[in-house]
Amino acid sequence: MTKEPGAENVWRGWRAATEDALYGPGGFYRRPEGPAGHFRTSVHASALFAAAVARLLCRVDEALGRPERLDFADLGAGRGELVTGVLAALPAEVAARTRAYAVELADRPADLDGRIEWRDELPDALTGLLFANEWLDNVPVDVAETDPAGVPRRVLVAPDGTERLGEPLEGPAADWLARWWPLPAEPGARAEIGLPRDLAWAAAVRRVERGLAVAVDYTHALGARPPFGTLTGFREGRETAPVPDGTCDITAHVALDACAAAGAAAANTEAPGPLTQRAALRALDVTGVRPPLALATTDPAGYVRALARAGEAAELTAPGGLGDFGWLLQPVGLDGTPL
Ligand SMILES: C[S@@+](CC[C@H](N)C(=O)[O-])C[C@H]1O[C@@H](n2cnc3c(N)ncnc32)[C@H](O)[C@@H]1O
Repeated sequence: MTKEPGAENVWRGWRAATEDALYGPGGFYRRPEGPAGHFRTSVHASALFAAAVARLLCRVDEALGRPERLDFADLGAGRGELVTGVLAALPAEVAARTRAYAVELADRPADLDGRIEWRDELPDALTGLLFANEWLDNVPVDVAETDPAGVPRRVLVAPDGTERLGEPLEGPAADWLARWWPLPAEPGARAEIGLPRDLAWAAAVRRVERGLAVAVDYTHALGARPPFGTLTGFREGRETAPVPDGTCDITAHVALDACAAAGAAAANTEAPGPLTQRAALRALDVTGVRPPLALATTDPAGYVRALARAGEAAELTAPGGLGDFGWLLQPVGLDGTPL
């Protein structure tokens, strides 16, 4: 809150400013290099991730009784890396029945597998697996901050990232904060208002007729929210100050417990509990166990490959890193979760 950028109408809430900066014309996610040019997700870290998602799709397939048409939708698909990897990892018989969708606001990459349908919205009714890796953290949110009198207000931002406080929060935003992220009265306490993410997740779950919807993201839980929020920027692999000018990603950790409650209400089930990526991937047979040393003598090339796989699995499941990500698994019309 240092300098005034002049014109009054440049001040907007973070949600509107981020929406334009990421997805407007010339927005960050419209750039040709795609997300992989700026940060590394589990999808980029290792093909083991797509192989695990393919195994999960096979389990959903079994739970659905092996339907004639099995849907796989990659929501927030980047450049289609995950859906491409999943198709490559599926057994041929399952791949032949799979209808693969990449749902993404950016344009279709020129060299994408012709079997993948590229669209900017989910299909109306999916039977299969909907998978959203690091999508919810990019659903723009407003930021709230407690003012010197102890009143939570909407934070306004100018295109150069300068902030000031706007109106006191009321209505659904204030209700959401009271339920999911009560702001302390100490001046300067901040929170991201996750309501648009709850609504986005519930809308995605509603597109699943039968099957499983999965959201994977960095997350925090009620009772342990970060006192100053997590809004941040990323550019070319580095964390930066968030500036809503289209030159960097703008992201904030996800209140996945709130999304879980909203998705469960949409699916008419109990809210699923928290699960770490470490636990989810272990259940999908991704382990960082090193190969036996004896293999180095009998099959040196196989040993080196197995060692590389173990290293990649360790990165995907690492404490303090990708392993701490949350997996939200929302079954729809299934008996339990096929994991
Ligand atoms: C952080 S990237 C993740 C890409 C990929 N899932 C991965 O894990 O590597 C988020 C992606 O979600 C896309 N996205 C955001 N909101 C979207 C929406 N409403 N519909 C489709 N795609 C969206 C962005 O354009 C961006 O490519």
